[in-house]
Amino acid sequence: MADGGWSRKDLIGIEALSRDEITLILDTAPQFAAISERSSGIKKVPLLKGRLVVNWFYEPSTRTRNSFELAAKRLSADTLAMTAASSSSVKGETLHDTLANIEAIHADVIVIRHGCAGVPHILADRHASHIINAGDGRHEHPTQALLDAYTIRKQLRLRLGDPEATLDGLKVAIVGDVEHSRVARSNILCLKRLGAEVRLCGPSTLMPQGIAQMGVQVTANLEEALADVDVVYTLRLQLERQAKALFPSLREYIRLFQVNTATMRYAPEHALVMHPGPINRDVELSSEVADGERSVILDQVSNGVAIRMAVMHLLVNGGGQE
Ligand code: CP
Repeated sequence: MADGGWSRKDLIGIEALSRDEITLILDTAPQFAAISERSSGIKKVPLLKGRLVVNWFYEPSTRTRNSFELAAKRLSADTLAMTAASSSSVKGETLHDTLANIEAIHADVIVIRHGCAGVPHILADRHASHIINAGDGRHEHPTQALLDAYTIRKQLRLRLGDPEATLDGLKVAIVGDVEHSRVARSNILCLKRLGAEVRLCGPSTLMPQGIAQMGVQVTANLEEALADVDVVYTLRLQLERQAKALFPSLREYIRLFQVNTATMRYAPEHALVMHPGPINRDVELSSEVADGERSVILDQVSNGVAIRMAVMHLLVNGGGQE
C-alpha cells in the first residue's frame, strides 16, 4: 500500500493484505452502509458509472452473489451474470479464453467463485480487469472475512460506546468444519492481522493438519473453546464436500459441537453469535440461538453489501473520487 491509499488491482485473498489495507477497507465501508440505509432519496452513488461488473459463479451462492450484484448496482455499474452452465466452459473453452471474451466487451471487474483453489490468482496474473475472489475451493473467501471483521468491529464499538475500538485482544472461537472452510482460513488471517486471538474447535477429523501453525489455539472441547470469548463463529458442516464420513454420526456431532442455548452458557453474556451462511439449522447451530438476540447473522449479510461496495470502489478508483 502506498501513502495510506489503495494500489492493488485485485482482491485475491486476505493473506496478501496488510493490517493497514484491511483497516482501509473497513474504514471505507461505513459511507457505503449509509447509502443503503437512506430512508429517502436514491440509494446509489455514481462511483462506478459506466463500468461493467461481471459475476462469474461456478458454485452455488445466495449471499455473495446477490451482495456483489447489489453492491455494483448501488455504485451505478452495469452488471452481467454468468454461471458454469451458461458459460462456454461447458463447450471446452478455457477460463482464460472465456475471460478474454468478457474483457473484449469491456468488463472492468470480474467477481469469480470457483471450486478450484488458485483460479482467481491465475486469472489476475494474466488479465487486465480487476479480479475479486468470491471463494476459491478451500483456499480463501476474502470479502466474507472482511464483512465479518466489519460486523465484529461495529458491534464492539456499539457495545463499548467507543467509535475507535479495534479488534486488538478480542477473543474469537471458530467452531465446526474448519477442514473444508475457506471462510475459516480467511477469517483466521484477517482476525489475527487485526490483533484478535483465534481459537478453533471441532472434531480432529475436521481440523486441517498443521493449522496451529497459523497461530491459533486448537481444541475439541467446546466448553474450553467458548470460555472468555467475545465472538462464537459457527461454521457450516459441509457434508457435500465429505467423500467419507469424518465423524461417527450427526447426532454425535450435535452432542459435542452444536452451538445452542445450553452450550452458549460456556461463553460470556456479551458474546456474539455469527455464521457465514447458509446455516444447517439445528445441526451446527440451534434455531433458537441463530434467531436469538446474540445472533448478528443478518447484520453480517447487510454489512456485506457495504464491504463489497468499498472493495470495488478501492480497486477501480483507488480510493479517489469520494
Ligand atoms: N457466505 C457465503 O459465501 O454464502 P453463499 O454461498 O450463499 O454466497
